[in-house]
Amino acid sequence: MTKQAAIIGGGVIGGGWAARFLLSGWDVRVFDPDPEAKRKIGEVLANARRSLPGLFETALPEEGSLSFHDTLEEAVSGAIWVQESVPERLDLKQKVYTSLMEHCAQSAVIGSSTSGFKPSELQEGTARPEQIVVAHPFNPVYLLPLAELVTTEKNTPDVIAKAKEILSAIGMHPLHVKKEIDAHIADRFLEAVWREALWLVKDGIATTEEIDDAIRYGFGIRWAQMGLFETYRVAGGEAGMKHFMAQFGPALQWPWTKLMDVPEFTDELVDLIAGQSDAQSGHHSIRELERIRDNNLVAMMRALKTQDWGAGALLNAQDKHLGANAPEIDETRPIVTVRRAIPLDWTDYNGHMNEARYLQAFCDATDRLMEIIGCDAEYISTGGSYFTAETHIRHLDEVHAGARIEVRTQVLLGEGKKMQLWHEMYEGERLLATGEHMLIHVDLETRRPSIPGPSIKANLTRIATAHANLSKPAGIGASVGVRA
Ligand SMILES: NC(=O)c1ccc[n+]([C@@H]2O[C@H](COP(=O)([O-])OP(=O)(O)OC[C@H]3O[C@@H](n4cnc5c(N)ncnc54)[C@H](O)[C@@H]3O)[C@@H](O)[C@H]2O)c1
Repeated sequence: MTKQAAIIGGGVIGGGWAARFLLSGWDVRVFDPDPEAKRKIGEVLANARRSLPGLFETALPEEGSLSFHDTLEEAVSGAIWVQESVPERLDLKQKVYTSLMEHCAQSAVIGSSTSGFKPSELQEGTARPEQIVVAHPFNPVYLLPLAELVTTEKNTPDVIAKAKEILSAIGMHPLHVKKEIDAHIADRFLEAVWREALWLVKDGIATTEEIDDAIRYGFGIRWAQMGLFETYRVAGGEAGMKHFMAQFGPALQWPWTKLMDVPEFTDELVDLIAGQSDAQSGHHSIRELERIRDNNLVAMMRALKTQDWGAGALLNAQDKHLGANAPEIDETRPIVTVRRAIPLDWTDYNGHMNEARYLQAFCDATDRLMEIIGCDAEYISTGGSYFTAETHIRHLDEVHAGARIEVRTQVLLGEGKKMQLWHEMYEGERLLATGEHMLIHVDLETRRPSIPGPSIKANLTRIATAHANLSKPAGIGASVGVRA
């Protein structure tokens, strides 16, 4: 099978499809009358190249070739998948299908990115309606895996199977919507939420920012990992979905929304939902689901921390607040540079903290020590910093999620460009690991070693001198090898 796709309409969405196919190893041929199409797709592709490949632990296949064509006929030549992403106008889309039928292979699947038209509307009046399906993606198409695959009875099982196979092959999740409806599944939610939001702003209840905060600090993150029904099943507690529905069913009649066209709250409806929810999630107890939810939330919120965005920015602010209560530093003893709990996402298949996280904790300890000597964000912005040149970690004992650990840091050397640190990690008084690290001060412009600024030099010398009076920790200078 020659993996060749044609992209008809290379705007926001067509560009995203082009990038996804290309990075999945497909050759991509584009037709778009916009003279700017090449530049725009190039820019989308650049963003896709920086973000998509790193999602996987395995290298993606060699990128396919990208070409631009002056006619639709040329673009579809040899394509086994044709993705139509022209503007959302039914007459325009139907006109495009008429030309497609003249030029593309009869065996090709034609997917439409339409946000809301039903496939039967797209198929109407075309020579080979069985070729056309809705393949509705989400922006950015190169990252988000969902493609709503909406079909009609005109599509043969063969076409549907091929569509599923190809969408899966490029890393998407084809959600087969078997009964067509305006705006498919996902856009109906988005539309309902959008309409409520417009009312809330118009009525002066909330600003755009307050509405976004209401989503991203709460139910938005919950939805991202379990969706709607599994989340509500957990919210029902041990009694599950039926209980949840009994509790909130009456609210369907209350003015909790502007959308007051609601289904009748009958036993049949409760049984239908509870039955489907059992089939979906019944193999987990509610307690298990709670733990799965919590693991997911921790992993997602901690990921947002690294971006200092949304709920992650709140956590960072809270970190600063907690840090303000840090104990006073006693320079005559090893300095406490980390005091924290082991997060859920630091453990691995062995059920304990992964070895890489020992390094992370020691890295955080080094960062804190740097801050203490004055090598903080402000100093670094003036062009100086420390780079680690060598590290030796001894993993002495295991530790589990939730354990409270402390890292105590001793300065072994602080002279010229060099800073040698000795970290000891403890849970209570149980020694878990030691880390010995040699760091070199560098000029961030030349990226070469340099002498630190005078106040850093003075602070480091003072602490190193005080720490020289401490007993030498066992294990300094140890190398990897068979123990005697
Ligand atoms: N933007 C979104 O978030 C989003 C999400 C999912 C689906 N969609 C759907 O994707 C489709 C495209 O939306 P978009 O946001 O990429 O629009 P867009 O305006 O960014 O891109 C449309 C592109 O189609 C080109 N075009 C116009 N007529 C053409 C023709 N006859 N042949 C070939 N190309 C032609 C335009 O030059 C333009 O580059 C719509 O059906 C839309 O509903 C959009």
